Amino acid sequence: MSSSFKEEPKLTIAMPKGRIFEEAVGFLQQAGLNVTAELKDSRKLIIPVEGTNLQFILAKPTDVPTYVEYGVADVGVVGKDVLLEEERDVYELLDLRIGYCRMMVAGLPGWKPTEAPRVASKYPRIASRYFRQQGQQVEVIKLNGSVELAPMIGLADRIVDIVSTGQTLRENGLVELEHICDITTRLIANRASYRMKSEAVDDVAQKFLQVIPKR
Ligand code: PRP
Repeated sequence: MSSSFKEEPKLTIAMPKGRIFEEAVGFLQQAGLNVTAELKDSRKLIIPVEGTNLQFILAKPTDVPTYVEYGVADVGVVGKDVLLEEERDVYELLDLRIGYCRMMVAGLPGWKPTEAPRVASKYPRIASRYFRQQGQQVEVIKLNGSVELAPMIGLADRIVDIVSTGQTLRENGLVELEHICDITTRLIANRASYRMKSEAVDDVAQKFLQVIPKR
């Protein structure tokens, strides 16, 4: 039997595990995507959405732009912090206006400039760029987490990190010193997918657009 029916291309959406996952999943649900318990509860990393041409892949947040740049995911949900740090060649489609936090310089109260300033961060590129723009020479030390430890134990005099509720800083006796930028969650797309699978990408973007919180 011949058929003129054109099969829709499969669309792969990369989702970040970690900080923004819960809020992002809530967002997908609101947008009417059929998010099953599998996405939230299982250890599976590839999750097809039954009855649709969609599948999710679950990735470490910092890897989401990598999957999207290389086209193994067509679109991805990712924090602007990760985009600014990873500098991947992806197309930023939408500001989803969720996952609000701020990129800050923080340190011990009463912090004074030292001769050989050291800054610890999970975001070495953002930190280096910021201090270069400020005309300050600093040594940036890359850490992978628990960055707030660094000033407390004398590894660095300041940190660059995201602050959301401020609880982590408070509980570790640190204060916000300088505001670098605000951060929200974004929808990104692979450049080729955006052209070749424009209908499917648009469809997802439109669904998201409907539920983006108003300012
Ligand atoms: C982030 C960030 C801070 C904390 C800020 O860490 O690096 O440590 O959240 O949130 P708050 O202002 O609401 O306290 P994350 O939870 O991603 O863990 P990590 O330190 O292991 O990277």
